[in-house]
Amino acid sequence: MNVVNLSKARATPASPPVHLNLNVRGLDTSATLAINEASSALQQAGKTVYRLGLGQSPFPVPDSVVRALQEHAHQKDYLPVRGLQALREAVAWFHVRTNGVHRSADDVLIGPGSKELMFILQLVFYGDLVIPAPSWVSYSPQASIIGRQIRRVNTLAENGWRMQADELEAVCLEDPDRPRVLILNYPNNPVGITYSDDELKAIAGVAEKYGMLVLSDEIYSELHYEGKQTSIAKYYPQGTIISSGLSKWAGAGGWRLGTFLFPEGLRWLLDAMAVVASETYTTVSAPIQYAAIRAFEGGPDIDDYLSRSRHILKALGRNLTDRLRAMGCTLPDPEGGFYLFPDFSAHQDKLKTKGIQTSRDLCKKLLEDAGVACLPGTDFGRPATELTVRMAYVDFDGAKALAAVDTNRPIDQEFLLAHCPKLVGAMDSIDNWLNDL
Ligand SMILES: Cc1ncc(COP(=O)(O)O)c(C=O)c1O
Repeated sequence: MNVVNLSKARATPASPPVHLNLNVRGLDTSATLAINEASSALQQAGKTVYRLGLGQSPFPVPDSVVRALQEHAHQKDYLPVRGLQALREAVAWFHVRTNGVHRSADDVLIGPGSKELMFILQLVFYGDLVIPAPSWVSYSPQASIIGRQIRRVNTLAENGWRMQADELEAVCLEDPDRPRVLILNYPNNPVGITYSDDELKAIAGVAEKYGMLVLSDEIYSELHYEGKQTSIAKYYPQGTIISSGLSKWAGAGGWRLGTFLFPEGLRWLLDAMAVVASETYTTVSAPIQYAAIRAFEGGPDIDDYLSRSRHILKALGRNLTDRLRAMGCTLPDPEGGFYLFPDFSAHQDKLKTKGIQTSRDLCKKLLEDAGVACLPGTDFGRPATELTVRMAYVDFDGAKALAAVDTNRPIDQEFLLAHCPKLVGAMDSIDNWLNDL
C-alpha cells in the first residue's frame, strides 16, 4: 500500500504547508453573512439590534406554495439535471407573463439558487466579468475563485448609481475584442433603483456592438414597486440570459431554487452548464422543484401576495428615504426590492473627528453605538472612503404586515409604527446618533 508520510513531508523544507495552495486566499466568508453573525452576537448579549444587514425577504412563502411542498414531500427521486419538465414550462410561462420574453421549457435551467448558476456560468464561459460599481457582493468573489478578470464600471450618484451606456462603452473600447460577461441587476441590490427602457436599450446596444454576454439578474423583478419589470432581453434577446428564482419575490431564500432563461442561440452554454451541474449538485431537491411549479405558474393568490408585498415595500422605501434625507444623507428614489444605499458624506467632518473615515468604520460604529446593522459600500465595490452603506429594510414581521395591509389605502405612519417598529426605531436611532456626534 502506498502510504504518504505526512510528518516526513512537513519536515522537508522545500515542501510548502498544504494551506498555501488554497484557491480562495484573500477571500472572506460572504460579507452579508458575516454582519448577520455579528448582529446575532450583540443580540444574544442583550442589545437591541436593528437588522438591516442581511437581504432576506421579510415575507413568508405564499401558502399555496407551502402546501405544494407539503404535498410533494414524498418525492424522492433524482430529477433531470436541467430541472423538472413541468417546472421548466412554468418558468418559461412566468417570463412570458411578467416581462414579455417568449422562450420555451428547453431554454430553462434550474439550479440550487441563482447564485450557484452564476458561478457555473462564470466557470464555463471564458470572459472578463464586467459589473457596475456598486454591485451585489457575490459576483466578483465568484470570478476571483474561478480566476477571471473583474472590470468594474464606475457609476455616478447623480445617475442614481445606474450604469450608463457610455460608461460601459469606455470599458469596451480599452480592448474591443475581449470576451466579456456583463451582469446587470434591477431592481437593484444594493441601491433599490431600476433602469428605464431607454437606459436598457442603450446598454443593450453597447453589449450587442461588442458581442458581450449579458446576465440580467432579475431576482427582484416581481418586487418592482409598480409591478412593471422590463427586461434588457427585450432589446438584446440573442445575447441575454435572465436570472430569477424563488428567493426574493416568493420569500424562499432557504429553499434554494434559482432559474436561468437562455435564448435559443445560447443553448450550447446551457448544455455546458448542465454538464457541470451533473458532476456537482446533480439536480435541485425534488419536493422544492414540485412546489416551485406552483409559484411560477402564478394565479390570483400569488398576484394578491405580490401586490401586498409591493405596497408595503414601496411605502417603507419611500418613508425611510425621506427620513434619511432629513438626516442629511443623499440617496436615489427607490423603485423596487428592499434596499437603500444612503451616502453619509454630508457628515464627513463630524464623523472624522470620531475616527470614522471609511464606510467600514461607519458600519462598525452604527452597529456598536446605534445598534443598526448594515453593510459598507466598499463591500459592493465602492471606494473605501466613500461613506455609503447598504440598508436592507426587512426587519419586520412580514406575515403580520401582509395580513394587515389594505392595498386600496395608502400606508400611514400608524401602520409603520404598528407593523414595522424596528425600522422606525432604526431611523430614530441613527438620527439620535448623528445628532450626538
Ligand atoms: C442581486 C442578487 N442576485 C442574486 C442573489 C442570489 O439569490 P439566490 O442564490 O438565493 O437565488 C441575491 C441574493 O441576495 C441577490 O441579492
